[in-house]
Amino acid sequence: MSTYDYNAAFERAARILADNDQGSYTVPTKGLYPFQWNWDSCLTALGQRHFDEKRAFTEIETLLAHQWPDGMVPHIVFHKNDDGYFPGPGVWNTGRPTPTSGITQPPVLGLVLRRLYEEARDKNLAAERIRPLLAKAAKWHRWFYDMRDPKGTGLIAILHPWESGRDNSVDWDEALARVPTDGVEPYQRRDTQHVNAGQRPHKSEYDRYLWLVQCFRGLGWDNSKLHDASPFQVVDPGFNAILMRSDEDVAHLAEVLGVDGIAEDARWRVAKARAAFEMLWSEKHGQYVCFDRVANKLVDSPSIGGFLPLVASVGTPERQRQLRDRIRAQRRQLAYGIASHDPADTRFEAKRYWRGPIWIIVNYLIADGLKRCGLDDAAAEVISDSLALIEKSGFAEYYDPQTGEGLGGGSFTWTAAMVAELVASRRAA
Ligand code: GLC
Repeated sequence: MSTYDYNAAFERAARILADNDQGSYTVPTKGLYPFQWNWDSCLTALGQRHFDEKRAFTEIETLLAHQWPDGMVPHIVFHKNDDGYFPGPGVWNTGRPTPTSGITQPPVLGLVLRRLYEEARDKNLAAERIRPLLAKAAKWHRWFYDMRDPKGTGLIAILHPWESGRDNSVDWDEALARVPTDGVEPYQRRDTQHVNAGQRPHKSEYDRYLWLVQCFRGLGWDNSKLHDASPFQVVDPGFNAILMRSDEDVAHLAEVLGVDGIAEDARWRVAKARAAFEMLWSEKHGQYVCFDRVANKLVDSPSIGGFLPLVASVGTPERQRQLRDRIRAQRRQLAYGIASHDPADTRFEAKRYWRGPIWIIVNYLIADGLKRCGLDDAAAEVISDSLALIEKSGFAEYYDPQTGEGLGGGSFTWTAAMVAELVASRRAA
């Protein structure tokens, strides 16, 4: 990698971010994803800050301007019409002033805000922009426990695979198989017009994704009804860990910036979640796995969602080391890491969306978690693989862990944002 021109990569990242910038929000990539996505935007802000700190805050402010009155921050904001994407605003029909989807996405917001603050060049600006956002972030976090954990277990369920951000993971197969398909309105997919169908979900899965959307729409998107009505209720370890980490980071910022009424609640929620979390540990796989709330059992699927809990440093140091060892063992079977699914599992597919390929944002989060757990060498390995993939295949949406080939959409925003992050911290070191 020695001859790789990191400065050129940094410049290329800047160009991609600028190119996908719509003024007050950034699209993940043109064509395939022409709107604002929730966790994409938050992670994008981490890249934008290297070029323009103000612009990074605007990205997040725009997203939060579309928070629902109940606290949910939607997974897509449809700022303007674009027929190139399905399902569009008409299918969701959420009745919001600016149309949005009706489900959410992993709440990386809190951890992003903390990083934006702690590494800000202009601390006063950062404090001024972040203060008003903390109450919104806290409201969203509270929403999860109110609406997605009605029995008060301490852990929240997602009600749609798209909420996980790992849309087509093997983790959802069993629970999704229970979702009916009768009454699904006729539709035409758009994703497979942009990307090779072999890298995207099957029709049988798509039908069920839409059935769930129609079911929730039929309940008027009333979140107090959705959880119990959904045949799909899955407790995702990655999602819950991201929520815990963000809740903690927002509590910390509220204390540092003197915003009252946030920290105590958040710390109480996190303590409860930590106490419940170890029920997601699978002895069989030596990692965390999902829990299917409807079937009342752990899901037999070793995916990358089970490594993400490192971001909240959950578990004993011994379990954290076990996760590191699993990551390394899988990597030895592949050319690059970290694969989104265990390559030893028969359901692994190197090129299909979330069933094998590598996402640089997930690598970034897991590397951050490994460092937080004091496992710096393993973090460095993950970062080095990430940069090697960019060097080999450019700024793709995801990558084949066997060949390093770039897959899905190109000129991808959050990949560019992560490159800006990784190159900047390399320079700082
Ligand atoms: C896909 C990913 C999701 C992401 C979106 C936009 O749907 O699965 O995590 O937010 O693309 O990049």
